[in-house]
Amino acid sequence: DRYIVILAGGIGIKFWPSSRRQRPKQFLDLLGTGRTLLQMTYDRYEGHFENYQFIIVTSKRYLSLVKEQLPNIPEDQILVEPMRRNTAASIALASYKIQKLNPNAKVLVSPSDQLILNENSFFEAIDEAMDGASTVNNLITIGIKPYRPDTNYGYIQFFPEKGQSVKKVKTFSEKPDLELATAFIESGDFLWNTGTFVWKNESIIKAYEKYLPEMAEVFEEGAVYFCTDKEAEFLVKAYSFIRNVSIDHGILEKSNEVFVVLGAFGWSDLGSWQNLYDISEKDNNNNSVKGKAMLYETSDCFINMPPNKLVVVQGLKDYLISDSGDVLLICKLDANSKYKEYVTDAKKIG
Ligand code: GDD
Ligand code: MG
Repeated sequence: DRYIVILAGGIGIKFWPSSRRQRPKQFLDLLGTGRTLLQMTYDRYEGHFENYQFIIVTSKRYLSLVKEQLPNIPEDQILVEPMRRNTAASIALASYKIQKLNPNAKVLVSPSDQLILNENSFFEAIDEAMDGASTVNNLITIGIKPYRPDTNYGYIQFFPEKGQSVKKVKTFSEKPDLELATAFIESGDFLWNTGTFVWKNESIIKAYEKYLPEMAEVFEEGAVYFCTDKEAEFLVKAYSFIRNVSIDHGILEKSNEVFVVLGAFGWSDLGSWQNLYDISEKDNNNNSVKGKAMLYETSDCFINMPPNKLVVVQGLKDYLISDSGDVLLICKLDANSKYKEYVTDAKKIG
């Protein structure tokens, strides 16, 4: 009666040039463990619940990568989006499909771009959320204590009910600007949204009907095509006009049925080179080096080289050097807002 929905259709632009349109970060072994981020996500959940099924939501473009990397997942458990329409659409697709298969199911929605250090603590939080999701309408997210005013996350303020592990959310602010994020951090009242969600399937369906009614209508009408040979055709049509919006903006910011379980499990969103640098091993000069490098008067740099290439660096501080073979990127390690420009301009050059 449980479904684990893994979202694996993002593009991971802030890991360019390693994360490419043809192979985004979830399909890369970014941590050098021998398993990609998607495989690590699968490994984490595999076997945890007694009665459950995986559903992977991805884009058409990545279907072969998913099949190759998760050979144990039957094809009918891979939902294929014809194009990218963001997480509200992906989660709606999974939810309406589950509604047809098993309307009483509980669902865990997981991103495929996170590092979780302590899996026991992680599953403690998940199990609490699963219990909390027994109440009708509850949408539960797993939160974590924040430590810097990062603008890439959702911020959650909650009602501090003592002795209650599932706490009602007061406000949810997705990707606030720096000023607001700084105020949130200083107040000490806020958590980060980890993007891992738990709910009864009927609760999220109700939320779609209430907060994204046009999207709900599309999938409700399309449900007759699910699991038939018309499904792909229906999705192409539906995706050509449904809104591009994240679940965070589309539902969680608006709903007053959102709850949070505070976890403490050593979490990092592998959202950017900077995040990966933060958790990587460093030398005496605070450089983190993957591959071969000779460094002189260089500190606080993150260097990623392919196996067959040596880089020689002098006089840099706080830089990223990332060589994917066909593209060499050298930029400030914290220049996270520039990646869209790099990619757009690189396309023009071809
Ligand atoms: N199938 C599919 N289709 N998956 C998608 C799509 C899509 O169109 N877009 C994104 N995803 C997947 C990504 O691959 C990732 O695993 C997950 O959905 C979350 O999307 P991101 O694009 O990585 O979101 P984010 O990191 O900017 O923000 C979310 O996660 C933060 C924590 O990491 C939000 O939930 C924030 O509130 C949260 O703090
Ligand atoms: Mg992310």
